[in-house]
Amino acid sequence: MSEPFLVGARPERVEGLRIGSVEVWPPIVLAPMSGVTNRTMRALYKPFGFGLTVTEFVSSNALQYGARRTMEMIDQHGVERPVSTQLWGNDPAIMAMAAKVVRECGADIVDINFGCPAPKVTKTEGGSACLRDVDRCEAIMKAVVDAVDCPVTMKMRLGWNENELVFVEVAKRAQAVGVQALTLHARTAKQFYKGNADWSKIAELKRAVDIPVIGNGDLGDPYEALQRMRESGVDALMLGRATLGNPWLVSRLHALMEGREPEATPPAPERLRFAMHHYRTMVEEWGEPRAVPQMRKHLGYYLKGFAGASALRERLMRTETAAETLAVLAETIDQLEAHTRELAVA
Ligand SMILES: Cc1cc2nc3c(=O)[nH]c(=O)nc-3n(C[C@H](O)[C@H](O)[C@H](O)COP(=O)(O)O)c2cc1C
Repeated sequence: MSEPFLVGARPERVEGLRIGSVEVWPPIVLAPMSGVTNRTMRALYKPFGFGLTVTEFVSSNALQYGARRTMEMIDQHGVERPVSTQLWGNDPAIMAMAAKVVRECGADIVDINFGCPAPKVTKTEGGSACLRDVDRCEAIMKAVVDAVDCPVTMKMRLGWNENELVFVEVAKRAQAVGVQALTLHARTAKQFYKGNADWSKIAELKRAVDIPVIGNGDLGDPYEALQRMRESGVDALMLGRATLGNPWLVSRLHALMEGREPEATPPAPERLRFAMHHYRTMVEEWGEPRAVPQMRKHLGYYLKGFAGASALRERLMRTETAAETLAVLAETIDQLEAHTRELAVA
């Protein structure tokens, strides 16, 4: 927890977020994360206090062909609603068609991705590469807004590089064509994840437009997050990496936003029990062959900052079946609890 943020960042009830017809409470959004925010994960994490969850980004081109894996990405349980489905692409007509499809499949909001810096996306002029052509951005946003009867939002970076900071220009055009909220991950595309997110730019964006602004980048502590919200004036916060394996961060932020003191993050055995629940649910819903490799990544997140994590992580990376992995986790929980009992007696 960073000291400067403790000063003044006391619990304080904040306003809810409204995106067109969609009410979002609390104003905390689960960041779209490719390979991570599938429907199982969204449904499991939502109860911790996410007011809105966003799918992994979905290729509008792939949606044209209705590929099974792509259709799975836009599917949802319903319990994680409201859900925003995120689309990427560079062709206004294809983006409009894709928006209609995801809306028919239950999206409450359609989100446009102008932020992805991955070469496989930018080499086709999609994601953050769109920011190099603000007229195209405008055409895509207008086509999507005209195609659907639900709110349309857009998520972007500051610009392609530090010499092309177009975020205010693109935001103004978004507002003019009827986009109803904006998320800014305050880095340039060229930065990828280097350096720090520049929250002064998020504050600048908030001052420049009237539609709601969602601030995103490097939020990892609930007090700091609340302070960022207050200082930048944003309407909501989006959290990504720091919540992976640590959804309790969101419960803590939710408490602060309701004017309550947050509870402490639960001890390791409880966190591992939740990891086991996540694991079992993934196996039930996706089958063992797909769940086991995906869950290796998640177990890595749950073990972050854990005493003895590296030996345990190594052991878990060698397990090949769900039963084996769950047995290692159960054994670890027993050992941790036995250790706690010994300390209590001593
Ligand atoms: C594994 C991973 C996958 C991501 N996939 C997407 C995506 O599909 N769409 C998107 O807009 N951003 C994506 N992002 C970016 C996040 O939504 C978010 O903007 C970024 O991680 C900064 O927020 P954070 O510091 O809270 O993690 C991804 C980030 C990560 C780490």
